[in-house]
Amino acid sequence: MEKRYYQRFHWTQIVEHWVMALSFVTLATTGLPQKFSDTTWAHAIAEFFGGVQMLREIHHIAAIVLILTSIVHFVGVGYRVLVLQTPLYMWMRWRDLRDLIQAIGYYLKLAPSYPRFERYGFIEKLEYWALIWGTVLMIVTGFILWNPIWFTSFLPGEIVPAAKAAHGYEAVLAVLAILTWHVYFVHFRHFNKSIFTGKLSEEELRHEHPLELERLQRGEPPAPSAESVARRRRVFVPVAALVVLFLLAGTFYMITVEQTAIETVASPGRAPTIPHALELRGDCLACHNLQTQWPFPIDHTGRGNESCLSCHWPAK
Ligand code: HEC
Ligand code: HEC
Repeated sequence: MEKRYYQRFHWTQIVEHWVMALSFVTLATTGLPQKFSDTTWAHAIAEFFGGVQMLREIHHIAAIVLILTSIVHFVGVGYRVLVLQTPLYMWMRWRDLRDLIQAIGYYLKLAPSYPRFERYGFIEKLEYWALIWGTVLMIVTGFILWNPIWFTSFLPGEIVPAAKAAHGYEAVLAVLAILTWHVYFVHFRHFNKSIFTGKLSEEELRHEHPLELERLQRGEPPAPSAESVARRRRVFVPVAALVVLFLLAGTFYMITVEQTAIETVASPGRAPTIPHALELRGDCLACHNLQTQWPFPIDHTGRGNESCLSCHWPAK
């Protein structure tokens, strides 16, 4: 019997997914050792990459890739929704809460059947929205850690340790979520190949997204006319180009502003080098503050531990 296939993902979405996955893995492997810097495994990883400084640089490059992917995603969603007028299948609805309750009921043998899903069920939606908010949070807190001096020139100094805590906890949460939720639902429960092939067979669709299959078989939503798509695209392309330009400029500013700030405030060459080892001395402020025997200059008040190594370099 001839198998029927339905297109689930456009090839651009497949590329987007894998670039995102690659940057995610890179961010986790270069970021977690920075959070757990007092463990032996963290030191082993740092050594493997050629030192903490290298770890941070790779982390920054992977972060830029993630930001660019997010911009591409944003434009892709805009194109599908505004130009192709695809309905917002990912949007959370009350129905998802009902489905969630029904699924729990089903596992507890209280509900007779498992919920029937549209294109995206609550499992996919929860993960998608967690990813969206998680990424926004990571980009914002990441930029604060990247530019502590610039941010604290207009925000209170506590923002830096707060951003650091949030960045670290969200990282652990995101890695655990991917390892459990994503890998379990997508690869173990039933191996879904659509992110490789872009397609789902009719049986798979009937099994996993029966409401979508029924809708597709009814021929809904009707494809928009080529002429209306072209008309909307003429408006979308220049507007999207402007938004993208604005986002790229913002990103570029955020990854360069601190270098400029450091050069103008005090070039790294002018800050005294650190005469001692850094091992076990991550908490600079414990020994260097205004009360200790080895005080820092008064203009250092309010600077967080994260900032020290951007001006003071280890002697060696
Ligand atoms: C356990 C306490 C301790 C910690 C933690 C510590 N230091 Fe020091 N630091 C010292 C002492 C003691 C000296 C002075 C003598 C020496 O070791 O040569 C010093 C000297 C320095 C100097 C040179 C000051 C000068 O007068 O030239 C710099 C710069 C410095 N530390 C930066 C840092 C930074 C940045 C960190 C965090 C990564 C840090 N220290 C963590 C104890 C500490
Ligand atoms: C914007 C760059 C910059 C940052 C960030 C920075 N420092 Fe400094 N630091 C300097 C410069 C420049 C000097 C030397 C000039 C001076 O004495 O004001 C200095 C001097 C010092 C000294 C030596 C004081 C002395 O009397 O010789 C210590 C200790 C020190 N810093 C520790 C720290 C610690 C700890 C941090 C992190 C909390 C830190 N610095 C963050 C630029 C920086």
